[in-house]
Amino acid sequence: MEKIVVKGRKPLFGSVDISGMKNAALPIIFACVLVPGKCVIENIPNVRDVAISFEILRGMGAKIEKLAHNTYEIDCSDVVAGTSSCALVSKLRASYYLWGTEFGRFGFTKTGQPGGCNFADRPVDQHIKGFEALGGKVLSQTDCVEIHREGEATGANIYFDVVTVGGTVNVMLASVLSSGVTIIENAAREPHIVDLANFLNKCGARISGAGTEIIKVRGVKELRGCTHDIIPDMIEAGTFMIAAAATRGSVTVNNVIPKHMESLTAKLEEVGVKIEELDDSIKVDATNTKFRPTRIKTMPYPGFPTDMQPQMCVLLTQAEGESMITEGIYETRFRYIDDLARMGAQIKVDTRRAVISGGTDLTGADVTALDLRAGVAMVIAGLIAEGETAISNIYCIERGYDDLVGKLTGLGADVRHITVPDEEPVMQVECE
Ligand code: EPZ
Repeated sequence: MEKIVVKGRKPLFGSVDISGMKNAALPIIFACVLVPGKCVIENIPNVRDVAISFEILRGMGAKIEKLAHNTYEIDCSDVVAGTSSCALVSKLRASYYLWGTEFGRFGFTKTGQPGGCNFADRPVDQHIKGFEALGGKVLSQTDCVEIHREGEATGANIYFDVVTVGGTVNVMLASVLSSGVTIIENAAREPHIVDLANFLNKCGARISGAGTEIIKVRGVKELRGCTHDIIPDMIEAGTFMIAAAATRGSVTVNNVIPKHMESLTAKLEEVGVKIEELDDSIKVDATNTKFRPTRIKTMPYPGFPTDMQPQMCVLLTQAEGESMITEGIYETRFRYIDDLARMGAQIKVDTRRAVISGGTDLTGADVTALDLRAGVAMVIAGLIAEGETAISNIYCIERGYDDLVGKLTGLGADVRHITVPDEEPVMQVECE
């Protein structure tokens, strides 16, 4: 069994370089299916979800070559729709972007169910509503997802009942090759939506409004290959900013777009952390800081991201007083609290709300990475705890963090990746 072992109480100092954004790289990698030619994608993070995506596409006939560190040439000219491996797509939530790309280029999609993540219910009704508006007929939604379109693709007006990143991506992918105009209302505004639109536009698409709540996709006949550089990962950047603050360290986080970090920066300043924004880096200084409590509600971008909620919760265990976090995206995302409580945190959870009584000393314990962000929050908890924290199920963390252990070690953390013999068959906890 693989574990990450952290010896706490060492403040982080120095600088760290942020990798390309996982949640931008995944839709862009799958978007290459729309292109009958070669795309060169730079700044692709070295994370497990990317490796699985490559495996899925190679199995469908794509040629993917590593050109340089983090740069890949992806050629989907010979991809055959409906041939993705069910076993592989079930490992990855983002594999549902194949619905949009297969439907967009070939007029039908047939894939296995996307990877489950069990921190909350993850419905796809808005994706389906989008495909139906674009002329799709859903033939199956049980073992596999099968959607067919009769005739030529035309445009549609789609209003999302909830702001959905995946739904917005899928409708963009499904409508980019069409003879009409598609309007997406109440669209997600995340930076990765903008990055996807930029990539597709470089390939010849005509998408406007990405980054606002109304996106207009004017259909085109064909796309061609291009070169694209993935934006920096704002969640990885935020994770290091919180880790630096929580350990009362001082760290410069390089290769970030400070604008993407505004909701976190504002909250960190509110709790007493000094932040200095430079062109493409942010300096976080919490040496000698007495953290103040705060209230946070997670919201779609530009609100406070749900993907930074567990990490922030760990920091707030160190604030003097009572903080409150309300989860505004998922029905609940607080399963990690039990492990944090075993480390000494005092937190009461009521479905969507956690009330944190701060100022508690944490002590190392054996804990589990229940999902990607909960897992990295446990690492941060380990960094501030007295003694040793061993985190298991680190598969979840490796899905989305490029060399977490190496980067933390570079900042002075005492953190190791170890392999221990299995005492009993290991149950891998499903995560995203
Ligand atoms: C993306 O998931 C991210 N994943 C998630 O990051 C992130 O937590 C989430 O966006 C919110 O920011 C990827 O980009 C691969 P949504 P996604 O559709 O697209 C509801 C991580 O740690 N909804 O924006 O699946 C849904 O239940 C992961 O990197 C519907 O009701 O999320 C949720 O409450 C975890 N019906 C809300 O919308 C639908 O058809 C937002 O979900 C679709 C979504």
